[in-house]
Amino acid sequence: MRDINTFSSETIEESRAFARELARILKPSDIVLLEGNLGSGKTFLVKEICNIWETDEEATSPSFAIIQIYSGAISVNHFDFYRIEDISELDNLGWEELLNTDAVSFIEWPQMIENQLDDYYKITIELNGERRLFKLSHS
Ligand SMILES: Nc1ncnc2c1ncn2[C@@H]1O[C@H](COP(=O)(O)OP(=O)(O)O)[C@@H](O)[C@H]1O
Ligand SMILES: [Mg+2]
Repeated sequence: MRDINTFSSETIEESRAFARELARILKPSDIVLLEGNLGSGKTFLVKEICNIWETDEEATSPSFAIIQIYSGAISVNHFDFYRIEDISELDNLGWEELLNTDAVSFIEWPQMIENQLDDYYKITIELNGERRLFKLSHS
């Protein structure tokens, strides 16, 4: 992976600023893997990006939905593979086809499928107390 930048945040506002920077960088069809513990802020980032791009529905933590699609000037595909225990459960969901649309795709818990991708961003979030480190890299 090639490091792009690391962004440190101690407040919601600083995390929002990182989301704005991300929204400037991302282009249609980009894929963004989100890695970090539960509660580190993966879904938060997707929500913020949806707000910035004014997508139709606000993204909520998709604890049940594996795939959510939000339409906007730039559309967002939000995949959350947290509950996937075996890669075969991803068959027939159509997620690979969604990667080939104009939408920007965000994938939480992507470890299982990372080796199937070749061109993608990755954000690794480290949470220490109130401080979050957002590390942005590209394959
Ligand atoms: N500085 C911050 N940056 C991002 N999220 C924060 C911050 N402070 C508090 N939060 C809260 O932390 C929670 C992160 O949860 P979420 O994004 O659902 O995590 P994940 O998807 O990684 O499990 C949200 O409720 C968010 O409002
Ligand atoms: Mg989440």
